[in-house]
Amino acid sequence: MTKIYIGMSADLLHPGHLNIIEHAREIGGEIIIGLLTDKAIASYKRLPYMSWEQRKIVIENVKGVTNVMPQDTLDYVPNLEKIRPDYVLHGDDWKTGPQQKVRQRVVDLLETWGGKVVDVPYTQGISSTKLNNALREVGTTPDIRANRLKRLITSKDIVTVCEAHNGLTGLIVENTSVDKNNQKKEFDAIWISSLTQSAAKAKPDIGYLDTTSRMEVLNDILEVTTKPIIYDADNGGPIEHFFFTVRSLERLGVSAVIIEDKVGLKKNSLFGTDVVQEQDTIEDFCDKIKAGKSARVTDSFMVIARIESLILEQGLDDALKRAKAYIDAGADGIMIHSRQKDFAEIKAFCDQYANFANRKPLVVVPSSFSHVTEKELVSSGVNVVIYANQLLRAAYPSMIKTVESILRNDRAKEASDSYCMPIKDILTLIPGS
Ligand code: SPV
Ligand code: MG
Repeated sequence: MTKIYIGMSADLLHPGHLNIIEHAREIGGEIIIGLLTDKAIASYKRLPYMSWEQRKIVIENVKGVTNVMPQDTLDYVPNLEKIRPDYVLHGDDWKTGPQQKVRQRVVDLLETWGGKVVDVPYTQGISSTKLNNALREVGTTPDIRANRLKRLITSKDIVTVCEAHNGLTGLIVENTSVDKNNQKKEFDAIWISSLTQSAAKAKPDIGYLDTTSRMEVLNDILEVTTKPIIYDADNGGPIEHFFFTVRSLERLGVSAVIIEDKVGLKKNSLFGTDVVQEQDTIEDFCDKIKAGKSARVTDSFMVIARIESLILEQGLDDALKRAKAYIDAGADGIMIHSRQKDFAEIKAFCDQYANFANRKPLVVVPSSFSHVTEKELVSSGVNVVIYANQLLRAAYPSMIKTVESILRNDRAKEASDSYCMPIKDILTLIPGS
């Protein structure tokens, strides 16, 4: 029987996809869909809305489709070698642009057994990119957003997270992307930092902002974004409070909360031992983790335990002992923190942590060891990197420079020309303006 292979993501199924399958039906034979896995898709663009299993249910019920198999890489070759199809069908848009090379490899391989590539004329007026943009405008739901962090962690080598401390910075993290090696790179998720949220309100990072006022800011961010959120809950407060915090965060669609194993008046970790900071006992902190886990309603929500042993100079063994205990207590992830400029301290932890039998996703915050690249973090086994304060640190000096310029020149022209965006741009920046 003639075998026809079609690789696709089939997330937002539209007439363009159906047109390709229709062409396959006209050729006649077994129609096999190579359904790209989340991992394959995340390697070059944003994670699909639906999980692989959900997309499979949709595509296998399309008229003519006989078989659905996972395609684990963007590269067709491994599946094609297995199937040895007579035809591979694809929209003719892959004849130009970055996909050209992928197509050529398919053409060359098929030739070795007499197979053929059929380039199906592109369906005008509809595309996944257009639908994606429209969906972004519509927004998201708490469920879809919450679930995305776990999916990202399993699909990507490293999940990149950037801090936001108000609606505007939320928009920046949501919408900013760069073109790199023919691919679009953007942040995967948003960090709600206690430090930058406090600083934006001109308050010290000492746990002064109560949960209600932090949630107001969180709400501004939720309104203009669709990316998953990781919330910095300091030490989670008293166990009785932490239960309610988890409930509220989960209801809003937050994906994860990180709590640090400290007690007493909260001080920012980057002060290290320059100020008095006390670490929690393992037993009490484990109880707090358990309380958080018992409060959550779905499996999507993650309680991540942050270890302060290196910050408080308690040594690597203490950090590892705590990581084991916190995972046993139910932590869904571990954050290890350090204020050393050198990466060696964190790297030593990573190397030992890699040997844990019940290892959970590992989070780091390279504020002081900022020279470390994401590639190095991946090779150390880090799953999530949080850029925790850079937006606020960038904005502040730039505003100071602007104020100084106006003061110095007795007018705003110099500042406007050198440091400010055009008025027209700020008027149209916000959706709905
Ligand atoms: C924050 O961003 O508030 C953090 C990370 O907790 S740190 O400031 O490094 O403690
Ligand atoms: Mg903090």
